[in-house]
Amino acid sequence: MKKIHSLSRIALPRITLCAAILGMGLNAHAADETIRQLAKERGRFIGTILNSEWFNDDIEPEFEEIHKTQFNVVVAENEMKFDATEPNEDEFNFEKGDKMVKYALANNIRVRGHALAWHSQVPNWVNNYKGQKEKLLAVLKNHITKVVTHYKGKVAEWDVVNEAINDDYNADWRSTNSVWYEGIGAEFLDSAFVWTHEADPDAELCYNDYSIEWGLREGSKASFVVEQVKRWKANNIPITCVGTQTHIEIAHETTPQNVRALAKALAELNVTLNITELDIGFPKGSAGNLSAADYAKQGHIYRQFMDVFLEEPNMGEFVMWGLTDAHSWLDEQQGKTEGLLYDKQYKPKPAYDSVMASLKAHPASEVKTPYSETILNPPKDCDAGGCGDSTIAIMPSAVAKKGMSVQIAGRTLFITGIATEKSANAASNAAKVDVFDMQGRPIYSTQSANGAADLSTIAEGLYVVRVHDGSTSIVKKISIK
Ligand code: G3I
Repeated sequence: MKKIHSLSRIALPRITLCAAILGMGLNAHAADETIRQLAKERGRFIGTILNSEWFNDDIEPEFEEIHKTQFNVVVAENEMKFDATEPNEDEFNFEKGDKMVKYALANNIRVRGHALAWHSQVPNWVNNYKGQKEKLLAVLKNHITKVVTHYKGKVAEWDVVNEAINDDYNADWRSTNSVWYEGIGAEFLDSAFVWTHEADPDAELCYNDYSIEWGLREGSKASFVVEQVKRWKANNIPITCVGTQTHIEIAHETTPQNVRALAKALAELNVTLNITELDIGFPKGSAGNLSAADYAKQGHIYRQFMDVFLEEPNMGEFVMWGLTDAHSWLDEQQGKTEGLLYDKQYKPKPAYDSVMASLKAHPASEVKTPYSETILNPPKDCDAGGCGDSTIAIMPSAVAKKGMSVQIAGRTLFITGIATEKSANAASNAAKVDVFDMQGRPIYSTQSANGAADLSTIAEGLYVVRVHDGSTSIVKKISIK
């Protein structure tokens, strides 16, 4: 995929571009309201993956701007799986996971680790030990211990075991095409939880699976999960959460209430239920033929999931398996399309507005959190860059030249790092300053002089300012008091 370097390459009208960066629809919400802000006020985490393109520096700049402004939980799409972290026996590669943890710390975003024990994405060297129980136990224990120790205190929650249950009508363990089950037996799950807890006693530990949003009934996958959680809790296995991946289609209208029933069943076991990989896709063939009514229906289902999430006290995270329809496994692997909150041009869809409407329909005073104060507001590690806060200001955009930055003081905007060789007036160190309201409408433009711009004619409030020095731009949310 070609490298994309500048916002200017994306043919977006200025207002849309600004609205997209802020993740606001054109019928945007009141100033400073972002999903992240409303989630934080409610003691919940709402977020999405960092796609593999992000790790490869091969994604549009809007992606990160929106991600860190709109979301407060993150998980790597592929970069913390077994094959990525231990590609060769006892040789670990934490580079990409570290990149995500650094980003998350700098932006006060909670980190999910995905996934420690999974039948898929197992490197070939593990399969060489097929059927060798003691060796496979040692391999799995070493993997879990080394990875979880490396991320101790930085990864808040792990998908300890992923997709270990089969898809039969009468659910049971996934007993084929699983080197772990076939070589060790079902005890690999219990051991995986124990070893993860030993490596990081403070991390929350999830069992994660798909198709558990299809209801609690005799033989269903969801019922099988509940039975295993009961057994694990009775045996003091340190499980704390279940992840329902929830990869569904637009026709699957019963699933929100099924998730509510699962949440209630797990609440009786004192276990949190997290939505971990939500996308609500349309059949792939419908791409390009979708109507406003189609997108409204998608928004309606997103609304129902968010309502359930906010109303069930033991639900903690609402994670979508992608930010924009421009980068989604649905099109590449699943025969579906357009399942996310932002369209391919990074514009928020009705689904975004539905999520915001649900958050605003559930005041913070009415939403219970399953998390302790320490989890909600972890001590900041400023040395590791953990003192940034995207809820206040958008960090300089990815296209800004290193060093250019803007700060507001009173009604004066101070600009440093202007590239004088190309600035509008090198002598006066000038740059073009455009100010937009939170709906993305341009309201003021000026030229800075000597690294400052006078905004005294602008009324109090929250705005987005864009500074262009002739070669690069920087976009930042500012508050004028
Ligand atoms: O990085 C290589 C690239 O170098 C190579 O050229 C290319 C073509 O072979 O493959 C690239 O790796 C692909 C990887 O995604 C990164 O794009 C793998 O082949 C492909 O199998 C992998 O697919 C991922 C899939 O899990 C399997 O791991 C999807 O991106 C990812 O969205 C999907 O996520 C899973 C969750 O982990 C578990 N729940 C289901 C969910 C959807 O399948």
